[in-house]
Amino acid sequence: MTGRPFAEVASVGSAVPERVLTNHELSQVLDTSDQWIVERTGIRERRIAAPDQTVAMLSRDASLLALDRAGVGVEELDTIVLATASPDRLLPSTACDLQALLGATNAAAFDVVAACPGYVYALTVAEGLIASGQSNTVLVVGAEKLSTITDFQDRSTAILFGDGAGASVVRRARGSGRGILSTFLKSDGRLAPLLYRPGGGSVDPISEKVVCDRSHYMKMAGREVFKAAVLAMSEACDAALSRAGVSADEIDLLIPHQANLRIIEATAKHAGMPMSKVMVNLDRFGNTSSASIPLALDQAVAEGRVGPGSLLLLVAFGAGFTWGSAVVRW
Ligand code: ACO
Repeated sequence: MTGRPFAEVASVGSAVPERVLTNHELSQVLDTSDQWIVERTGIRERRIAAPDQTVAMLSRDASLLALDRAGVGVEELDTIVLATASPDRLLPSTACDLQALLGATNAAAFDVVAACPGYVYALTVAEGLIASGQSNTVLVVGAEKLSTITDFQDRSTAILFGDGAGASVVRRARGSGRGILSTFLKSDGRLAPLLYRPGGGSVDPISEKVVCDRSHYMKMAGREVFKAAVLAMSEACDAALSRAGVSADEIDLLIPHQANLRIIEATAKHAGMPMSKVMVNLDRFGNTSSASIPLALDQAVAEGRVGPGSLLLLVAFGAGFTWGSAVVRW
């Protein structure tokens, strides 16, 4: 694509539930320990939404912050793209529920299902809509209530996931140099059974059997996913950098999907970036799938690690398998 940047990420906001679930609490109900979880993943605690706190509500809280920070009124939104792997309902989209909560009456709204790289996928969709002239101002959201699709009897997955939401206003670039400089998306559906929810969809609709088998919860072959994640994140870093025509040395902050500290360290090593230039907050939030990058980005902005002109590399990997990356000038 020539003529970039077409679109800029004007702001970010995030929201997490109040309830903190610590490794210590998990070790009281599962055969695990704080030490095992910290050593193998880097996660210390995660947030869990209240039963009546929906993905749309978390999205609304994050979105209102992003709109306010961009100085954009809700009526200016012409599109809402919401990435989630844990929608509030299977029909209609959570994006439509968010639209109703915001009162964004001028916007088209739809979900993107791309698991952990969901925010990067949604960002790419938003950029394309702006580049084609279809949209001017897009709300991009990554939001999850993974606690509802996590099997808390399965120690290999229960320790990993958390709930949260992040949102960005993405608008037509204003010629200041700020903007999305490159994106890269890739998938391999042959690997779906390594991380999936076998039951509860139209292949095996919800039934007593599905619930008894617990097949409506996420199942993961952790070791295989780990290996694929390291390779895919490395490929995605290289592709986004080369498409943007920048080197890793020029990147101010790498903001990777927060799945496992060891995957993040391997990704940084491949990119040749010191950990001092890598955003890590999975110790506090665990893996929040599509919310993970905007949550980390929001914290990085709040801490002053991202400011005007910062060059960012976003990279993520998840179920599908899907992976993706973007170079963004803040
Ligand atoms: N506590 C204690 N022991 C455990 C736990 C636990 N919570 N979980 C597994 N174990 C045991 C296993 O049973 C196994 O025991 P064994 O050797 O007696 O068979 C041993 O620990 C090692 O298990 P591994 O699965 O090999 O452990 P590994 O070091 O690979 O860590 C983990 C597991 C943390 C799940 C890791 O594989 C991982 O992070 N994988 C990638 C996950 C990921 O990135 N997902 C991204 C996408 S998420 C999305 O798209 C929604």
